[in-house]
Amino acid sequence: MTPVIAQTREELAAVRAGVGGTLALVPTMGALHEGHRSLIRKARQLADAVAVSVFVNPLQFGAGEDLDRYPRTFAADIEACAAEGVDVVFAPTVEVMYPDRPQVTVQAGPMGERVEGRTRPGHFDGMLTVVLKLFHLVNPDIAVFGEKDAQQLAMIRRMVADLNVPVEIVGGPTVRELDGLALSSRNRYLSGDERRTAVALSQALQAGADAAAGGPAAVVGAARAVLDKAASAEPPLALDYLVLVDPATFTEVAAGHTGPAVLAVAGRVGTTHLIDNLPVQFGS
Ligand code: PAF
Repeated sequence: MTPVIAQTREELAAVRAGVGGTLALVPTMGALHEGHRSLIRKARQLADAVAVSVFVNPLQFGAGEDLDRYPRTFAADIEACAAEGVDVVFAPTVEVMYPDRPQVTVQAGPMGERVEGRTRPGHFDGMLTVVLKLFHLVNPDIAVFGEKDAQQLAMIRRMVADLNVPVEIVGGPTVRELDGLALSSRNRYLSGDERRTAVALSQALQAGADAAAGGPAAVVGAARAVLDKAASAEPPLALDYLVLVDPATFTEVAAGHTGPAVLAVAGRVGTTHLIDNLPVQFGS
């Protein structure tokens, strides 16, 4: 089934008016891969109809980031949506989403300055702004986001709670290659050698999670040992951060922490910025 494609607000409003029952939205920036497809399948299980948005949001890219080269694969995205039985694809242009330079935007607050926000100032403001706009335009009952972007997911949950946005937020598990590399639209930038170095990110997270019985310091130490090795690989991994954080606030957990945590990592291989994370449980 080919989805209905809406490119303007008017087209979207007309299609939305015809959707009966509940609607789940999967917001994406396109370049759909198996990770997105698993989110679409989850959305399908949760609602009567599924919408996917495809929009590379300039507001969440900083100067010098990969906005211009971000992969745009619209025809293949529509094929993937058709294969997954998506009902509606909303694919606006920048002019449709931002007819004027926005003056009022969502401020991500302190959480937006932590971890990924420290290396990408303004990123979470731009991301939350477009997500809120998509919620207003598509008016979904449910929205499904990948757990691979754990801080993004935590911030969206926080925005929805703080601003009383009537959308249920659902996370979908990270999909990985056989060797552990998390699927990402940015993986296609990697050369073969870079790809071999990049797998250290997921290996470090796994080594950390395996050390959970030893407490937070042991987790970070085990992960860091893997990353240190990758830092002297050819090509090297340039680590941006490795942190063990509270899943809801993204503040670093204390030495004696018990309960859930997220081990989050980001680094650059060549010119490609990659992130990954794993949940880690301390105590029962
Ligand atoms: O995760 C993404 O692809 C983007 O950050 C999102 C949520 C679609 C907003 O542009």
